[in-house]
Amino acid sequence: MVVKEMPLHENLSMENRSGSASVPTTTTTSFSRVGRRYSLSLTTAVILASFFLCTLLAVGLIVYNFATCEQQSPGEGDDIVCTSVHLRHKQRHGHNDGQPKYDRDVRLPRSIQPLKYNITLVPQLSGNFSFAGTVQIRIRVLEDCYNITMHAEELNISRSDAAVYRVLTKQELDKDSLRIHKQYLVGAKQFFVIELYDKLLRGAEYVVHLRFDGIIQDYLQGFYRSSYEVANETRWVASTQFQATDARRAFPCFDEPALKANFTLHIARPRNMTTVSNMPIVYSNNHETITNYVWDHFAESLPMSTYLVAYAISDFTHISSGNISVWARADAIKSAEYALSVAPKILNFLQEFFNVTFPLPKIDMIALPEFQAGAMENWGLITYRETTMLYDPGVATANNKQRVASVVGHELAHQWFGNLVTPSWWSDIWLNEGFASYMEYITADAVAPEWKQLDQFVVNELQTVFQLDALSTSHKISHQVFNPQEISEIFDRISYAKGSAIIRMMAHFLTNPVFRRGLSKYLQEMAYNSATQDDLWRFLTNEAKSSGLLDHSTSVKEIMDTWTLQTGYPVVKISRHPNTNAIRLEQVRFVYTNTTKEDEGLLWWIPITFTTASELNFANTRPTTWMPRTKLYELENRNLSTAKWFIFNIQQTGYYRVNYDLDNWRAVTEHLMDAKHFEEIAPANRAQLIDDVLNLARGSYLSYGTAMNLTRYLGHETGHVPWKAAITNFNFIDSMFVNSGDYDLLKNYLLKQLRKVYDEVGFKDSQRESEDILLLLKRSEILNMACHLGHQECISESNRHFQNWVQSANPDANNPIGPNLRGVVYCSAIQYGTEYEWDFAFERYLKTSIPAEKELLLSALGCSKEPWLLYRYLRRGIAGQHIRKQDVLRVFAAVSNTVVGQQIAFDFLRNNWQEINTYMGSQISNIHTLLKFATKRMNSKFQLAELEDFVKDARWDYDRPIQQIVEQVETSVDWMNRNYKSIVEWLKIEAKIEGA
Ligand SMILES: *[C@@H]1O[C@H](CO)[C@@H](O)[C@H](O)[C@H]1NC(C)=O
Ligand SMILES: [Zn+2]
Repeated sequence: MVVKEMPLHENLSMENRSGSASVPTTTTTSFSRVGRRYSLSLTTAVILASFFLCTLLAVGLIVYNFATCEQQSPGEGDDIVCTSVHLRHKQRHGHNDGQPKYDRDVRLPRSIQPLKYNITLVPQLSGNFSFAGTVQIRIRVLEDCYNITMHAEELNISRSDAAVYRVLTKQELDKDSLRIHKQYLVGAKQFFVIELYDKLLRGAEYVVHLRFDGIIQDYLQGFYRSSYEVANETRWVASTQFQATDARRAFPCFDEPALKANFTLHIARPRNMTTVSNMPIVYSNNHETITNYVWDHFAESLPMSTYLVAYAISDFTHISSGNISVWARADAIKSAEYALSVAPKILNFLQEFFNVTFPLPKIDMIALPEFQAGAMENWGLITYRETTMLYDPGVATANNKQRVASVVGHELAHQWFGNLVTPSWWSDIWLNEGFASYMEYITADAVAPEWKQLDQFVVNELQTVFQLDALSTSHKISHQVFNPQEISEIFDRISYAKGSAIIRMMAHFLTNPVFRRGLSKYLQEMAYNSATQDDLWRFLTNEAKSSGLLDHSTSVKEIMDTWTLQTGYPVVKISRHPNTNAIRLEQVRFVYTNTTKEDEGLLWWIPITFTTASELNFANTRPTTWMPRTKLYELENRNLSTAKWFIFNIQQTGYYRVNYDLDNWRAVTEHLMDAKHFEEIAPANRAQLIDDVLNLARGSYLSYGTAMNLTRYLGHETGHVPWKAAITNFNFIDSMFVNSGDYDLLKNYLLKQLRKVYDEVGFKDSQRESEDILLLLKRSEILNMACHLGHQECISESNRHFQNWVQSANPDANNPIGPNLRGVVYCSAIQYGTEYEWDFAFERYLKTSIPAEKELLLSALGCSKEPWLLYRYLRRGIAGQHIRKQDVLRVFAAVSNTVVGQQIAFDFLRNNWQEINTYMGSQISNIHTLLKFATKRMNSKFQLAELEDFVKDARWDYDRPIQQIVEQVETSVDWMNRNYKSIVEWLKIEAKIEGA
């Protein structure tokens, strides 16, 4: 899945940046049980009452099949036998702790293996939005047992219809069903259990029949609904999002990734709609009883995991190319052409890359009006939010276009890596997501080499996740998780971005041919199965050894375990011995605050690459040597010891930072200061130098004097990638300075450094350049930063463009602002404007039907400095009227994006978090994300205390996301104490030199 892309804009940039600083949100489950808070006597009373009711039902006094009998609490409730078993529509409202309580261990017993599912569904696409279904699950018994335990959540399961039959021969079932003792739910595990009197025999097969019903929900998980308007008429769409643990909300199933089975679906729909699912339709026929309803019978799937099952019912139209189709609402279908043009190219590229044919007969891709994540790789039916699949040439930005190509590449890569071979358990999700995130760049590079995506990798992925992974509260990439809440939490930047960065490192040290051969064998041999990271390491080690890349002393596993089973990453300090040829390498975990005892013990296998002032070879990324798992390592190398300077970690392919002795930093800085020769250092390595030196200073590994000296060269830098690295890092310093009396010093320094690159890009968006995506991306980064810093021309040009639009006779049909300027123009005009500009923009937001334009406007509406406008905006964000649920995070991110707005967002969250949580389907991870936005610039003891009070008052678990947020603020407080004064001093001297 692609997690939701956040607009982030830390604070200098208003533009939605692909990949960078995205904040993961997940499609997590949350659930709670009623009953926890009853007093003991009340609980008992309720249980007795329900027992009585159930008994009545059981003896048939009431013939209503789906009456509800809810288990009141685990343990006691387990013995209640009900006519129907019902996980009642959850009280999603107002649990004051906000935190669903799960059992930690929620794994299914291993005694039963599902083989085939035969599912029928009859959804009501209006009225009460209920759906009725049946499922027949063919199972194989692996151990003698009496219980069948599977998953179900928020479903009514009809007890009287449940039946279990023994399979006699391939086709034939025993006429008599097994005798059922009881059926019950275990809410804390989301289990549904059938207990039998008759023993299930090891090796035998059975078929479980169940009838159930449920609601097509309005929060964005499981089987859910969304709508859009056509000429003031509401059209409904019903679709699914099952990853990670929500297939159980749509039908009872064995909902774990390793439990693969074949799925056959039969879905009924209104005659005027269409259903797409993983497999093609075999035939359709009229529904027996519901007039105007039609059955679609889908082909049986290949063996697959439950979380990849998908279906979508809509009145969309589609266009096709070969066996790939794209679906969207009719008035947006034209914008699906771009996705349809890249998808077949990427699919072919991937078939060749993996050397494994795509095994399904077709792929459908559908752009849904509401979608929590960015996109989801369901096998054969990829679901997208509109902005990740639809691209409007003429209206959308260069960034949108790249984003569509990357997301299509990501999801198509999953068709093999994830769908064909699946991680055995969610702990290994990084393998899935890291790999797909890495392939985004490879596939985009294959279809559009002019975008130079591979250069952008370091700034979009590696350097952004470096910041998170430097916190002591970061986590191991391969990380034990058990319950749905924990599972949802690891769909984070560590899994995606660090995962992709260490896979990229591996591809470089193994070399591409060896890497691909290993992958290909892994996919071929593990196809239709599940696997762990050790399986992949085994295949890669074999290839590496047979190609002579690794000797007997080590293995891919030994190397990669140091990256996946340990938290964080190293900084390698490189120093010359004064009078020998020895070069000393020393590794230590890189952290922003003091290293702990635990950190001291962490050591990595580090691939070493380097070049020198005389070699200037930035192409060879194959390691010349390895730093083994030792603290210190010495290299004998005359080229290095006599070089004027050297740079380690070519193209930043290794997941580590590099520090040098001061002489080398000075010599490298001097080379960068040489306006004629600095480009001899590759762009990715210039970005690396900026990012490393500023972060080393941030973590007190060297002085800010050394770091700021290096940034002086930016005055003649015009490269996109180095500037992006600089902007990200100055974002941080800016966010620390923005509440201080010396902000002007920083602002003036940065404006001076920007002069050359600003003049080069200019304030324009000409048609002629429309194909030079790199220039467009660079321009939007530079202009955003310039306007943020108060660049006079930038602001006045923004206003001029915006007023042209305001004066346009029909602003909705005719927007004179070039698409790539819109982000900066909207934001500046609203920032320096009044209620009038704000309302004008909001009006345009309501009127436009172009999803990318809606997103731009939503982000810009947060740029206002007027507190009441911002409060009103946040209110509208959760009113559920004009702003979609999927966009709540965007609204918050936008408001949090300015120093005024951040405090407002924090207050608003503090006062309304329960309401927000309920509105968003009680997924506490969303609240965590909002809190992260709203605390970004906090850097005083007072603010830290405020944050801690909030967390305490809310009585949240002090779990990892909260710990990370608190640590972030703590390190900022610490940073201010340690560095603020020295940077101010440096800036003062710099200003004097400039003035003189
Ligand atoms: C699948 O279920 C439907 C509805 O219960 C039934 O008519 C059909 O025969 C089943 N198919 C298989 C292969 O069991
Ligand atoms: Zn993914």
